[in-house]
Amino acid sequence: KQVAILISGGGSNMVALAQSMTGDHPARPVLVLANNADAGGLQKASDMGIATAVVDHRPFGKDRAAFEAALTRTLEQARPDIICLAGFMRVLGTEFVTRWQGKILNIHPSLLPKYKGLHTHARAIEAGDDQAGCSVHLVTAELDGGPVLGQARVPVFPDDTPDTLAARVLPMEHRLYPEVLRRFAAGDQTVVNLS
Ligand code: GRF
Repeated sequence: KQVAILISGGGSNMVALAQSMTGDHPARPVLVLANNADAGGLQKASDMGIATAVVDHRPFGKDRAAFEAALTRTLEQARPDIICLAGFMRVLGTEFVTRWQGKILNIHPSLLPKYKGLHTHARAIEAGDDQAGCSVHLVTAELDGGPVLGQARVPVFPDDTPDTLAARVLPMEHRLYPEVLRRFAAGDQTVVNLS
């Protein structure tokens, strides 16, 4: 299976995914695509010998469909079987999600269905939750709304800040996403639960 990974920033999840696809793993990374040229993950991908591309969303302004058509044109050259969104910060619309139906995974830093959208750690702390974590889900047209394929849980401590909680969740993302991808690439639909 060929995997394309979409990033917007440092790409720590991309690195974890790419490093996991070795040996008898059923998938290999074929492209790392960023929506801006200064995404730190681009250099990390190049250093790992993975092809990279940039499709900057800004020239497209409000024309989301044109941006997504450009994403699709670039992706089609890599012929991915699976697309992993990893710290990708653009909302993908119906056209893109339909074109790549059933092939797009995303990692979201909350225990879905709680805290869809942004500022997930601050919201969990604000709510007084004693647990937080991350979820990997299939991407549908509903933001952070697709079927959950895996979750990882961490405790929330009374003195936590969004940063200290994020620092506890991120390493779990790096464990969860590769495990879900491995199963998904092998056609195994069993849900992963880590804690
Ligand atoms: C992190 O906040 C992570 O929780 C979310 O995207 C952000 C950046 O991740 N998935 P990465 O280091 O670019 O993978």
